[in-house]
Amino acid sequence: MCGIVGIACLEIENIGKMIRRCLERLEYRGYDSAGIAVIKNGTLIVRKGRGKIAELNKRLKFDEIYGKVGIGHTRWATHGKPSDENAHPHTDCRDMIAVVHNGIISNYLELREKLESTGHVFRSETDTEVIAHLVEEHLRPGSEPLDAFRMAVSELCGTYAIGLITVLDPSKIFFARMTSPLIIGVGEGMNMIASDIPAVLEYTNRVIVLKDGEIGYITPTEIYIEREGRPVSWKERVRVISWSVDMASKGGYPHFMLKEIHEQPLALSNTLSGIEMENIRNICSLLAKSDRIFITGAGTSYHAGLVCDYVLTELAGADVTTFIASEYRKYINAVDERSVLIAISQSGETIDTLMAVRAFKERGCRVIAVSNVVDSTIPRESDMVVYTRAGPEIGVAATKTFTTQIMVLTIMSLTLAYMIERLREAEYRELIRQIRELPTVTESIIRMHEARCMILARYMKNRANAFYLGRGLGVPIAMEGALKLKEIAYIHAEAYPAGESKHGPIALVERDFPVFFVVLDDYYVEAIVGNVMEMRARDAYTIALAPRKYIYKFAKLCDYVIDMPNIDYRIAPIPYIVPLQLVAYYTSVMRGLDPDKPRNLAKTVTVE
Ligand code: AGP
Repeated sequence: MCGIVGIACLEIENIGKMIRRCLERLEYRGYDSAGIAVIKNGTLIVRKGRGKIAELNKRLKFDEIYGKVGIGHTRWATHGKPSDENAHPHTDCRDMIAVVHNGIISNYLELREKLESTGHVFRSETDTEVIAHLVEEHLRPGSEPLDAFRMAVSELCGTYAIGLITVLDPSKIFFARMTSPLIIGVGEGMNMIASDIPAVLEYTNRVIVLKDGEIGYITPTEIYIEREGRPVSWKERVRVISWSVDMASKGGYPHFMLKEIHEQPLALSNTLSGIEMENIRNICSLLAKSDRIFITGAGTSYHAGLVCDYVLTELAGADVTTFIASEYRKYINAVDERSVLIAISQSGETIDTLMAVRAFKERGCRVIAVSNVVDSTIPRESDMVVYTRAGPEIGVAATKTFTTQIMVLTIMSLTLAYMIERLREAEYRELIRQIRELPTVTESIIRMHEARCMILARYMKNRANAFYLGRGLGVPIAMEGALKLKEIAYIHAEAYPAGESKHGPIALVERDFPVFFVVLDDYYVEAIVGNVMEMRARDAYTIALAPRKYIYKFAKLCDYVIDMPNIDYRIAPIPYIVPLQLVAYYTSVMRGLDPDKPRNLAKTVTVE
């Protein structure tokens, strides 16, 4: 996790401020400490410490650092607790080299021991610091810093995106990538490196996504990339990104998360207009020919996978297995050339999902990626890709990327069912028509229910636990609602199929225990009414999200109801999650928390 940035400019600039602003756009990747290193008049200036970037800027005055070349880092601690010493950048013994790193150097203990035995003195507990000392070790009189960097990188095992500067070659920022994401921002009279695209958008929308095993350097006017010792041509790899800097800023909202919840109608409509049906049909032909479909993802993306699983199984009669990406090993022996894996990842960089993709590919399985980030690793390593067009998502809690993922997955599942004649044309057309209305439907849900969600949040803010129950397609939505509350409001929330209540969880229920019911399928209404009664009998505080046509029924039974549109249950997961996102958001804010930066979490999880 962690975010790194490097900027090389032609003229002396207020580079500390530029790096600080870029880092703020990467803070979703980690925010327990931060730092900046700049080369000025042949010496290295390093300012770093524990805390969030804005606080550190007041204390360490990042904005007052001038120079032409600098690197920065925002950290999510892996090796060594958050502290001033463990904050990046890290330096060598003679303060000639500064390095920032995202990833894990798995052989750092051996390297550290070796370096200490030759006299290197370490100042932190991090794995990263070995990189600075290794480069120092390889810098012999007369040798080129690039050679020393290359040799140092060849000794590293694990995952890394590295940015390194040295006073011995002050116009360059050296970089290397292995598994952890890294891009180059191609500017005019300046070039940049960064962990993610939003960091560079203020300065350029032209980017190169680096590949595993690539190393090189940037200067203000030059980009050099090599792979296995040979220079790589990069000009044709420059992509013009359609995201604007406004899309990556709060635009008047107090938090990115609220902005991103409100952006869902637009994200859905952009995703809809960006879908190439030819691509979807080709994917469906592949799925139709397969013996077995696997679906994987982590966190919210896994929940989107469960929605897809339900529709594919129920409607298309497919043989589907959906699993949490980090648990892929169990399925390895069941995978062959006739299997297809659908890998869902908004960032396209989640290490657990990437590992599953690689392991399945080795077995000959074809992979279809669903991602929000063009050219990210998972789509690049997959056979086919569908992109969601949610725009950059900065809040740690996934919102608009979830609803857009479900949209493309549902269109895919319905199209497959239609192609294999499990769904009649008239029904297929009607479902697609309802999907087309989702941007408007979602907009009206936000307009109608935001205030009611705030009222509910007032109740939730003093609770320690909550249950989220559903049946059928309501289960993954209940799981996602519980995840949102847990991750940003720090309230213990558990989700499970409503029928499971009596098999254990109901033992926890006592007066005022909040229980959410996600009712989206006519078939389950009566069964859920029974479950509500059971909870009421134990004095739980019951909340139902139910279609308008049943709202009187549930209003009579429940303490709180949120009326949802009367739409087909296979389309309903998209609008149903919106009120649950809003409840989690307002509960977090009312508890005095920062929903954009929940403790211990980072947006993109690039360590196993
Ligand atoms: C969602 O709110 C999370 N913070 C998290 O579970 C996330 O969905 C997960 O890490 C997967 O990320 P990805 O979609 O980028 O692969």
